[in-house]
Amino acid sequence: MTALTLSTAAVPGLRADALVIGVAKGSRPASGDLVVAPGAEAVDKAYDGTLAGVLETLGASGAEGEVTKLPAPAGFRTPLVLAVGLGTEPAEGDAYDAEALRRAAGAAARALSGAKKAAFALPLTDAADAGAIAEGALLGSYAFVAYKDLVPAKKKTGKAPLAEIALLGGKPRDKAQKAAVERAVAVAEELNRARDLINTPPNDLDPEAFAAVAQAAAKEHGIKVQVLDEKALAKGGYGGILGVGAGSAAAPRLVKLSYTHGKAKKHLAFVGKGITYDSGGISLKPAGHNETMKCDMSGAAAVFAAVVAAARLGLEVNVTGWLALAENMPSGSATRPGDVLHMYSGKTVEVLNTDAEGRLVLADALWAASAEKPDAIVDVATLTGAMVLALGNRTFGVMANDDAFRAAIVDAAEEVGEASWPMPLPEHLRKGMDSPTADIANMGERMGGGLVAGLFLREFVGEGITWAHLDIAGPAFNEQGPFGYTPKGGTGSGVRTLVRLAELTAAGDLG
Ligand code: BES
Ligand code: MN
Ligand code: ZN
Repeated sequence: MTALTLSTAAVPGLRADALVIGVAKGSRPASGDLVVAPGAEAVDKAYDGTLAGVLETLGASGAEGEVTKLPAPAGFRTPLVLAVGLGTEPAEGDAYDAEALRRAAGAAARALSGAKKAAFALPLTDAADAGAIAEGALLGSYAFVAYKDLVPAKKKTGKAPLAEIALLGGKPRDKAQKAAVERAVAVAEELNRARDLINTPPNDLDPEAFAAVAQAAAKEHGIKVQVLDEKALAKGGYGGILGVGAGSAAAPRLVKLSYTHGKAKKHLAFVGKGITYDSGGISLKPAGHNETMKCDMSGAAAVFAAVVAAARLGLEVNVTGWLALAENMPSGSATRPGDVLHMYSGKTVEVLNTDAEGRLVLADALWAASAEKPDAIVDVATLTGAMVLALGNRTFGVMANDDAFRAAIVDAAEEVGEASWPMPLPEHLRKGMDSPTADIANMGERMGGGLVAGLFLREFVGEGITWAHLDIAGPAFNEQGPFGYTPKGGTGSGVRTLVRLAELTAAGDLG
């Protein structure tokens, strides 16, 4: 894992493989086309104040994520200067926006994978900036290399992430800056662990293996953990989770993680969809639709990471995480389209399509979470292709049984740099799930499929409990090129929003 410190060292004396500075598109009357951001003064001085011109000559424009490399000036102990684009320069008197810093730090860290140590001299004026740069740098440093050859040098097929990061320009003794960096380290490390889980191939991460990882982490961080195996699930009547897992040789699990704080006044429950592989089951997905379905446990990974981060941060709030883990496979023992499941809540569900499995495991976990009467429940799931069609692959949809709660979640997400959008739960779509045989069917109208899934989940939330549903099917897994602090593959979507919700709840600013 990448190590990060707030450093008092100064350039040019500092020893590192690279020095990261920021550049932006000029927007003020006195600025040229390209401006060098605060933090890079020593480099600019070494260039006799001509750094902006030198970078322009090299083609730099300041565009977000752009990386321009140049040799360091004589006397510097960092051989390389890396200028990263911050986008448009803020208006006079304004500071660079946190998300611009996060993205730039991430892009720079990615460009430096394979290097040992980098010093970041990006514009840093307060604790929030320090936290944003630290978070972006650590998230951008992520690389999934567990299955790659890193040695010997000639044959290697992957590059190790940047090993060491020094943040320059901050005040290591400033309590707020120190706390912001510590928070960023905890959140980024747990988020990166969620990415590892998502990227781990499904033959190595079945429900049992995921539960074992959760148990080990819980032990390490003083979190209470309870794992229901297939026998306990059968005894408890968890027909949804068992029904989805019935076709797999790997049995399902329900993991409950309880983080409690002695001074907590509120209790939040997070519920994650944890389908370790979604083949579709008997309603098998066609080729072309299942290659990335190891990502179908991203919701459970996000919940797991958020609970551990809350514990590491010692937040004054009780947080219970529920991981609904199953593998959705076709076989002679698999649930068939036409089967009726007896759910944990007592309701019956006619399974019309075994590929609509996420809502079945979530239904049982939502009902289990409801029994504890938390102040609010938030579920996170790669639930529907319809949500990807609606919002694209960088934005998650937010549905809720409470308008103010839904708005608060969208705001919290924006605050931490996650794109989300409020979605409705139109009542008229409910009747599409009426079943002649059971209380409800697991499919309804095709149009508005993401909202139909949300309406299904709503039926399994206990009376009077505030609930929201995040459909992260779009942003959970990045099949395109990396950008900012987002790598290819598992992204850790939802983690930062959940952590923020826990913080807001602890501070009494939510609900
Ligand atoms: N895991 C998928 C949803 C998904 C799609 C996640 C694309 C990530 C990327 C889910 O279990 C699923 O198959 N949903 C079906 C529901 C339908 C059968 C009602 C879908 O969206 O097609
Ligand atoms: Mn499915
Ligand atoms: Zn699925």
